[in-house]
Amino acid sequence: MKKLYWKRRNFPPGPIPLPVLGNTLSLALNPPGYQPLLKWKKKYGPVFTFWFGFQPTICITDFKIIKETFIDDSETFAGRLTLNDLIQIVRGGHFGVIETEGRLWLEQKRFVLFTFRNFGMGKNLMQERILDEIVYLIDTLKAINGKAIGIQGEIDRAVGSIINSLLFGYRFEGKSFHFLQKSGTENGIEESADFCEAFLREMRQRKEKEGENQHSFSFQQLRNVCLDLWVAGLETTTNTITFAILYYLHYFEIREKIYAELDAVIGSDRLITNNDKCSLPYLNAFISETQRMANLLPINFGRKTSKDTYINGFFVPKGSSVVPQISCILFDETIFPDPFTFNPERFIDAETKKYKKIDEFIPFSVGKRQCMGEGLAKMELFLIISNLFNQFQLLPENEKSLPSLEKRFGFALQPQPFRCKVKTRF
Ligand code: HEM
Repeated sequence: MKKLYWKRRNFPPGPIPLPVLGNTLSLALNPPGYQPLLKWKKKYGPVFTFWFGFQPTICITDFKIIKETFIDDSETFAGRLTLNDLIQIVRGGHFGVIETEGRLWLEQKRFVLFTFRNFGMGKNLMQERILDEIVYLIDTLKAINGKAIGIQGEIDRAVGSIINSLLFGYRFEGKSFHFLQKSGTENGIEESADFCEAFLREMRQRKEKEGENQHSFSFQQLRNVCLDLWVAGLETTTNTITFAILYYLHYFEIREKIYAELDAVIGSDRLITNNDKCSLPYLNAFISETQRMANLLPINFGRKTSKDTYINGFFVPKGSSVVPQISCILFDETIFPDPFTFNPERFIDAETKKYKKIDEFIPFSVGKRQCMGEGLAKMELFLIISNLFNQFQLLPENEKSLPSLEKRFGFALQPQPFRCKVKTRF
């Protein structure tokens, strides 16, 4: 205990940790996890320390301080703290993009962002692949018109297929794989049809130019980067869409506003594309409010400081774990009044009636380790949610009892399983 006391005195204040367990029990006993963080913020201030077992973790829960650290001084907070032994067993070393840092992480991050950006340009492979899945989802739901379904499973399959098609060039159809067309040449430009193909091409070119060990492109890296993109991209997106359906089922007036906008702007069963995005401010506000209320990652990932630094006057030594606690920002009552009430209007400008951008709305985090899949996720959320609501009316399976709003703890928070009836609108 004495040793722990001496250790604690070097960190910003925080709740008293138990030996071995630290403060993990408080988080585990209070699912989904942000309530203790909000309580500690009130008690100890915007920068406090809690202990994940033996690991002190400095939480930043104020937007201004988050900006000053993770954005203005982003280099200092670009690292990741990893469990070396576990990483060796699971990955065979430091590979991938979530837990790596330094040159490997930077080179791979640039490649992921560059490849995803290319998929979103020109003929817009990314949108094409997402819309293909939406058509399949619509057909599946039309076939069961009027009946109840566990919709989370269908969304999961659609989002899984989108990632698979972008990473590996195949999708799920029923229980079987369906391979998509491979790359070809168009206007003399060699285009990669999926991430793996682009990676292998880059690996070959680097090997020819730079030799075998001068770069981070290897088969082991390919396996791990695909694993990271798959894991980070599936549950987060599926759960957000399922929360959107849950909130839609709960709030009748909001549902009616969504339909009024869809009917006025789209007015048919045509596919909604990205070109429609700016014309649907209320739907965009609904999606943002869903992300805020779902608040998927209550604890977020820690960053590792690359040098000694100060945060809000507290000395923080090199190698410390610091977390931008985005869950506390999304539920900050000074930014989002009445934060536990679902209210899309907070994202609508009262005068112009257009979508209102709020800087503090940061579900994808901030700084150097900000989500790499943000562009893809936003496109998926908009296209899937807008097309689903335009095509179908969703109704609770049992009119008298709405599905629970209680969140389940997982890699990312998720709703309790529920079923709903789907009815075509056209
Ligand atoms: C609604 C969907 C999503 C949400 C809310 C979300 C949110 C986040 C958050 C909060 C982080 C942690 C950033 C930090 O360290 O502070 C993160 C990291 C990451 N996300 Fe996402 N994400 C989503 C979808 C995706 C998708 C679709 C992909 C890719 C297919 C993806 C790939 C990643 C990767 C690779 C990282 C690690 C970045 C790094 O360590 O440099 N995410 N995401």
